[in-house]
Amino acid sequence: RIPKPAELSAPAWKRAEGIDWGDGEEVQRLRREIEAAAGPGRAFALVAGSAAGGKEEPVLSPADPARRVGNVSWTQAKQIEEALRIGSEQAPRWERVPAQERVKALEVLADRLWRERARFLYLLREEAGKTLPDALAELQEAIDFCRFYAAEARRLFGAPRTLGGPCGERNAISWRGRGLFACISPWNFPLSIFLGQVVAALAAGNAVVAKPAEQTPLVAAEAVRLALASGVPPEILHLLPGDGQVGEALVRDPRVSGVAFTGSGAAASRIARTLASREGALAPLIAETGGLNVMLVDATAAPEQVVDDIVVSAFRSAGQRCSSLRLLLVQDEAAPRLLDLLAGAVEELVVGDPRDPATDIGPVIERSALLELENQAWRLERQGKLLAKAPLQSTAVPGGHYFSPRLIEIPSLSLVDREIFGPLLPVVRFRVEEWELVLDQVARMRFGLTMGLESRLSGRLRLVRERARVGNLYINRPMIGAAVAFQPFGGEGLSGTGPKSGGPRYLEAFGVERVSSENL
Ligand code: NAD
Ligand code: ALA
Repeated sequence: RIPKPAELSAPAWKRAEGIDWGDGEEVQRLRREIEAAAGPGRAFALVAGSAAGGKEEPVLSPADPARRVGNVSWTQAKQIEEALRIGSEQAPRWERVPAQERVKALEVLADRLWRERARFLYLLREEAGKTLPDALAELQEAIDFCRFYAAEARRLFGAPRTLGGPCGERNAISWRGRGLFACISPWNFPLSIFLGQVVAALAAGNAVVAKPAEQTPLVAAEAVRLALASGVPPEILHLLPGDGQVGEALVRDPRVSGVAFTGSGAAASRIARTLASREGALAPLIAETGGLNVMLVDATAAPEQVVDDIVVSAFRSAGQRCSSLRLLLVQDEAAPRLLDLLAGAVEELVVGDPRDPATDIGPVIERSALLELENQAWRLERQGKLLAKAPLQSTAVPGGHYFSPRLIEIPSLSLVDREIFGPLLPVVRFRVEEWELVLDQVARMRFGLTMGLESRLSGRLRLVRERARVGNLYINRPMIGAAVAFQPFGGEGLSGTGPKSGGPRYLEAFGVERVSSENL
């Protein structure tokens, strides 16, 4: 049976609360709560609820290496083995718990994330360098994932659905957990992507071995602590902080029956190869990777609005979203005024410590990311022309990983052939007769995550809709910040396998379908 559109939506669920940014007293109160929640974090392997610690290493803030955010002790081989053994043994028990019961812990987790928001906002700022608006948006997304996937699990993994068939026969289909899922996540959304994967796998009835990014183990440890305190059984959720080798060890093991991965395309390819070379049952890979995201602007768009949309898309979150704008393509007629306004806006960006309420852009995650950005900026500037550069404020202390946001005009879009992961925006002009050519060139890059279009022409919109090979197309608005359930998120081509996170098909990928046919 082909599902009717209404079946694509989850039943009603409650979105995360927010704060009123216009209410100065409320914002101040939240900032005070965050300071009161300060204190060192700790991350260690947590297997069946038991913490195992080896030698501890400091976790330093990207904003200021003099600030120690906490300590991490990395996972050892014997803890990986324990987690795989217990997780794979216990998975069938969790799978047999009815979905309606299973997801209650996830809804408690959502409520507690909001109650304990100050601690998470503190860690997101200190460990990942996020400004308060970015940290809050991420916390809200994490809460939305918990409640949305809980609602989705009730819809999909609840009672079996009856199918048609000849008289005298009863056919039914049900979705069940696969077994043990490995969830491997990146540093740029250390709470919402980390928890989104974990919660989806749990809601679908799987046990989980979770491997957070090596740059951000503290936020993940706090989230797992809260998940266990909310009622997720400790034998079902195991935390294994470590680098890519820990991820490799999980993916290689035939007891892992599915992998959810978000990160770079290179790591996704390695994981796919490892999975293909394994003995035993085949395991699916859900991979969400990077993008070379473009925005196209014509001469009908209102420049002031477009400038706002570009600044948000390219520079918010220090350009460290997978969805961020990486290459701006402007029709000749629109370019002089637009680029003039845009250069002014870039120069006004406030780059500094995320603790400072005035800061628009905090640090990038680590020194190697900063060096890579400096290198890319140098290369593009040599081939083009620097149009604008934002100064660093005095709060951007030396040693912090601060990059001055830049706008650089370049002569050809072929000069950008890989993801630029930070607040650096190249721009290329093109002629009105080149729309189709430009769209074809973009499609040939084979990335397919986000695209923006700024135009008031319906014909142009039709053309772009027809040619764009991207998962998320944004028209006359910023191209970041996909809202859970309203804007299911994820790419195609080099940008990922799907299905989209926060979408109606996501949970299916974490389960198996079982059909029973009974002769009555
Ligand atoms: P990364 O690939 O370096 O690391 C991601 C995770 O994979 C980390 O936990 C890492 O330890 C692990 N890992 C690395 N090699 C592995 C291997 N061989 N086997 C198993 N695990 C391995 O990526 P990153 O730098 O943390 O994240 C940034 C990238 O993530 C960017 O390319 C960004 O576009 C992408 N991203 C995509 C999305 C999306 O939804 N499409 C969302 C966020 C980030
Ligand atoms: N889901 C995040 C966004 O849309 C990555 O910006």
